[in-house]
Amino acid sequence: MRINFCPNVQYFTSNNGYYKSENGNPIGTVTQMFRPDLDWNRFTDFMVKHFKNKDKVQILQFAASDGSEAYTQIITLLENFKGQNIDKFFPIEAYDIDKNMCDVANSGLLNMNFIDLKKFNDNNIDVDKYFEFYSDKNINILNDTSEHFQTYKALPILTENVNFHQGDMFDVSKKHTDDSNTVVLCRNILDYLTDREVENFMMYNSFNLKKGSLFVTGEIDEHRVESIIMRNGFVKVLPHVFMKA
Ligand SMILES: C[S@@+](CC[C@H](N)C(=O)[O-])C[C@H]1O[C@@H](n2cnc3c(N)ncnc32)[C@H](O)[C@@H]1O
Repeated sequence: MRINFCPNVQYFTSNNGYYKSENGNPIGTVTQMFRPDLDWNRFTDFMVKHFKNKDKVQILQFAASDGSEAYTQIITLLENFKGQNIDKFFPIEAYDIDKNMCDVANSGLLNMNFIDLKKFNDNNIDVDKYFEFYSDKNINILNDTSEHFQTYKALPILTENVNFHQGDMFDVSKKHTDDSNTVVLCRNILDYLTDREVENFMMYNSFNLKKGSLFVTGEIDEHRVESIIMRNGFVKVLPHVFMKA
């Protein structure tokens, strides 16, 4: 695939929408492939070593948005740990409360442009292994304000390794049963919530997650949210990565 780079454009999101939650708070759906607030290679390396003695690892992804994050996680595992027992990490179970975002994720379609393609290039990843070109137009995402140039379709190597569900992370985390083998990605959503909501959510996670399970946050969660996480029995093991103690 031929890739044209535009050096002046620094930032790109696969969608950039806002909607009002039930309590009236504006919630963003902003996400992107290889979102740079997490060192995906370092985190995945840590995760694989940390769970080397486990037969099954359950990755739960909350606030999954359009699927960019799940695809990033799958690609990082497949690229870096070929030939190793990585099937135990699949399928990722990904949840978003917003039906529109779930429909987009379940369509397998993803807005990407040259910024995303450059990230594949920089990581020596062949984008054609994972996506096929679909259209020169954006996917029509409700409330999306960003401009895109191209839509891609995720290939089965991605879609077979993730299930997208419409679901509220509060309900899912309350019901989840753990055997010290869970990775919760809950990135760039908790900071939209009040202290009390974050405390409640982390109480469920602290109660249900056993020693050694991981909880991963994002750039907007860095200060206020991270201190609540640590008050609820988690220790920081990498930037934005916490382990139940
Ligand atoms: C800013 S995006 C984060 C996307 C992705 N995690 C990332 O870091 O790039 C926040 C997403 O959280 C979803 N969301 C909001 N409240 C939620 C809840 N209670 N349960 C699950 N998803 C929720 C929104 O619909 C939105 O798609």
